[in-house]
Amino acid sequence: MKKIATLLTLLLLLPVFSGCGSSTIKEEITEKTVDENLITVGFSQLGAESDWRNTNTASMQEAFTRENGYDLIYKNGQQKQANQITAVRMFIQQGVDYIVLAPATEAGWDSVLAEARDADIPVILVDRRVDVADKSLYSCWVGSDFELEAKKMTEWLKQFTQVRNIDPEELHIVNIQGTSGSTAQIGRTRGLANACRENGWDLMTEVDGDFTENKGREVMAAMLKGYDNINVVYCENDNMAIGAIDALEAAGKKVGSNIKNGEVMVVSFDGVNELSREYCREGKISCIAECNPLHGPRVSALIESLERGETPETFNYVDEKIFSSLSTVKSITVDGVTYEVEKP
Ligand code: AHR
Repeated sequence: MKKIATLLTLLLLLPVFSGCGSSTIKEEITEKTVDENLITVGFSQLGAESDWRNTNTASMQEAFTRENGYDLIYKNGQQKQANQITAVRMFIQQGVDYIVLAPATEAGWDSVLAEARDADIPVILVDRRVDVADKSLYSCWVGSDFELEAKKMTEWLKQFTQVRNIDPEELHIVNIQGTSGSTAQIGRTRGLANACRENGWDLMTEVDGDFTENKGREVMAAMLKGYDNINVVYCENDNMAIGAIDALEAAGKKVGSNIKNGEVMVVSFDGVNELSREYCREGKISCIAECNPLHGPRVSALIESLERGETPETFNYVDEKIFSSLSTVKSITVDGVTYEVEKP
């Protein structure tokens, strides 16, 4: 006889804004529903640092519903790896069928993932990756090619400056980085550093903005005190770009693409937050490389594949676009693939 004891604990319902439509996310779901007909998924989300992240959480919660055959246990790691490790251990104790992990940073996962394997619980990574010696500690991953996003952005910048007759040595770039040691930061930082070296651009400094608007504002204000010739601000996400634009404008700078006339160009990543898309339409953000957060159905498809006894691809990449309201660059070609530059 089917045993059903519903013990769901929904601590809070928070409204979430996203470019993909309004939604709500449940702050925590901590107890398992004992229903043998449902697939139990323990999802350790890293935090709620950005609009991208909240949209990603909503996508996961919308995919893993009881109607879809799932019992979701959701934990918010509050940007701390220690919290995420505790959550994974809790999932193991609860005997979930699958662990889905969106890791904050790449290092430090070997032990807890070995514990999951010892308990025969498959681990699926979403968004960022883990750096573990034994790659069989996780089943598969789905997310973005963060270095490709950076290559698209820097190719756009290269073409833009060539068309506008801006010499490479005229570019004075600062990088407001995402959370140090996260896959998104590593890929986007590497892509910029390589492009600066190859093109002869001046990469003046790189500072950690932790993917948050407040940190973006704070580090931009500090950099403006140290450097008086910044003319490109490369922000590793839109929330930090919004904060940086606040700081630039508060310091009396004009934000825009007319570098030769003293404007400071801001470029960023994600394309989820509606204000950043509006800024991109207005030209305050010159270019956005998309980072797609809608991974819920993708992770669910991977679990269904595992349920059928299949072995999905280990690395599953998402297709992404590039946006600018400037018509200077119509398309870019990176690694042999051409991308139209779309309107935001
Ligand atoms: O890992 C994806 C990144 O994490 C997004 O670009 C950023 O907004 C988020 O916080």
